[in-house]
Amino acid sequence: MTAPEQAPPRIVVHPDKERMARATAASLITTLVEAQTARGGASVVLTGGRNGNALLAALAQAPGRDGVDWSRVDLWWGDERFLPDGDPDRNHTQARAAFLDAVPLDPARVHPMPASDGPHGDDVAAAAEAYAAELAAAADTEGTAAPRVPSFDVLLLGLGPDTHVASLFPEHPAVREEERTVVGVLEAPKPPPTRISLTLPALRAAREVWLLAAGEDKAEAAAAALRGTDPLRTPASGARGRARTLWILDEAAAARLPSSVRD
Ligand code: 6PG
Repeated sequence: MTAPEQAPPRIVVHPDKERMARATAASLITTLVEAQTARGGASVVLTGGRNGNALLAALAQAPGRDGVDWSRVDLWWGDERFLPDGDPDRNHTQARAAFLDAVPLDPARVHPMPASDGPHGDDVAAAAEAYAAELAAAADTEGTAAPRVPSFDVLLLGLGPDTHVASLFPEHPAVREEERTVVGVLEAPKPPPTRISLTLPALRAAREVWLLAAGEDKAEAAAAALRGTDPLRTPASGARGRARTLWILDEAAAARLPSSVRD
């Protein structure tokens, strides 16, 4: 695998999950405005899970929300539960409820992962391949050895209790993928078992990776991932951005961090 430059993790701890969501929404707005000022457009990769959804809900309520030109933001997904369109458990459905319908996005720039009743039916490998092609068509890395995906401005990730990120679970075939940017995931330990996920090389193409974890049930995983050096065992340890890797935690999730990483 070509190893692009990767930023070491920086840790930000908020007093509780509500303030974490509000502060992260404000930071995201600032980062998107800066990206649009520098490059015209901006791109974000969304995550499923409670912390990702809490951030989207805070973003919908954020006072500075309209400072972003939402019609020039591309939205992608880091993973998806492979279910029919509109299923309440799909990350896309949850993002719509929390945020997508609240701002004037350009529908052509919203890129949900395929559903299990879409053009590829229940063929999750074909659905993953189609999403890889969509990313490649939007890539700004043509002709280089880098993965064929856009240079995402911010890629958001939740953290699983087993240190999974997106649908990359420890020791699972998907976390070993070094060539493809998107894969179908079978027999995931977190339901539903069939999923689509960006791979580690695709996650690492992002300028900024922000990992979100709140609650004491995440404390062990955050500590293990920040100590971890082998992404096959602790996938979150392999999720790094090229310019910035931010671990955004509340006090409860930060409770077991080694003092060497917190200070
Ligand atoms: C999903 C995910 C997954 C999630 C983590 C954390 O679709 O299930 O994208 O990686 O982000 O499991 O989820 P919580 O924030 O709900 O704990």
